[in-house]
Amino acid sequence: MLAVMPDAPSSSPPPSRPTVLLDCDPGHDDAIAIVTAARHTDLVGITTVAGNAPLERTTHNALVMRDLLGIDVPVHSGAARPLVRDPVFAVDVHGSSGLDGADLPAPTTPLDGTDAARFIAATVRSTEDVWLVPTGPLTNIALAMRIAPDIIDRVRGVSLMGGGSFGNRTATGEFNIWADPEAAHVVFDSGVDLTMAGLDVTHQFLATAERVERVRAAAGALATVLADLMVFFSAIYRERHDDGALLGGAVHDPLAVLAITHPDVFGSVRRRVDVETHGVLTRGMTVIDERLLRSRPAPNCTVLTSVDADTAFELILDAITHFTT
Ligand code: RIB
Ligand code: CA
Repeated sequence: MLAVMPDAPSSSPPPSRPTVLLDCDPGHDDAIAIVTAARHTDLVGITTVAGNAPLERTTHNALVMRDLLGIDVPVHSGAARPLVRDPVFAVDVHGSSGLDGADLPAPTTPLDGTDAARFIAATVRSTEDVWLVPTGPLTNIALAMRIAPDIIDRVRGVSLMGGGSFGNRTATGEFNIWADPEAAHVVFDSGVDLTMAGLDVTHQFLATAERVERVRAAAGALATVLADLMVFFSAIYRERHDDGALLGGAVHDPLAVLAITHPDVFGSVRRRVDVETHGVLTRGMTVIDERLLRSRPAPNCTVLTSVDADTAFELILDAITHFTT
């Protein structure tokens, strides 16, 4: 866990409605991030990446979520594999479909494109103050930065789910960073304004039985699907962790959205964070520089350290209720 006291929450401005391009690998918690972004941001695009499941599945699932929300947002698929490493999917957590546990309708609307990196570059170039919010491996974001380096200075920032002071795929590697460390290194080393929702904060935000039942009580097709997904996700988490370690699935991804729409819901610190790409035991580790030396490197990242979980849940429930027909 991050050992230091978080900086005092700034007297932050009221919640904003930032312009967001969500890059995701749905994925149970990605699905909730899509709902959260659709409600609380100006969502200008969804791009998909291989991660929790193969690209064909994460793309299918993003289209299903777009239909369930009834939103008019372009979906572009992207990288089917990491920049260098062999693909590894988290089907042990999300199931072979990437969204096991719910009765999902087939998508009814077509994919808008298959070159996410080019779509990301074009969107940032044509739109002011776009936040990139990746909630899967950072492959598409890194590719976009490579084909269009000018977007690094144009983009408002990158608010990502990933990393932390401990791992989940390995003792040091959180899945999104571990799956494509080279892509993560490109992004963390780019100079872009980073916000990191790592495991230190996402493990404070759990799909407890009480919260799942409040989602289900919202009624409607979307609420039923999300409640069923969270039941599945939480059962997997409880099965994989010691008794009592986690009282529900850690709902990681929507925190990367709420970090920019409702920053006062979080505690955070500014730190230099780098990504290990050469280690064996430390593959994909986010190395957070906690030294209090005057000579320490300048921070490149707002590292989220705490969350008001009840407020975050109410914001997500509001999003679900908003789209419930
Ligand atoms: O480690 C958690 C992250 O990996 C989440 O984004 C989850 O959806 C998976 O992609
Ligand atoms: Ca994800």
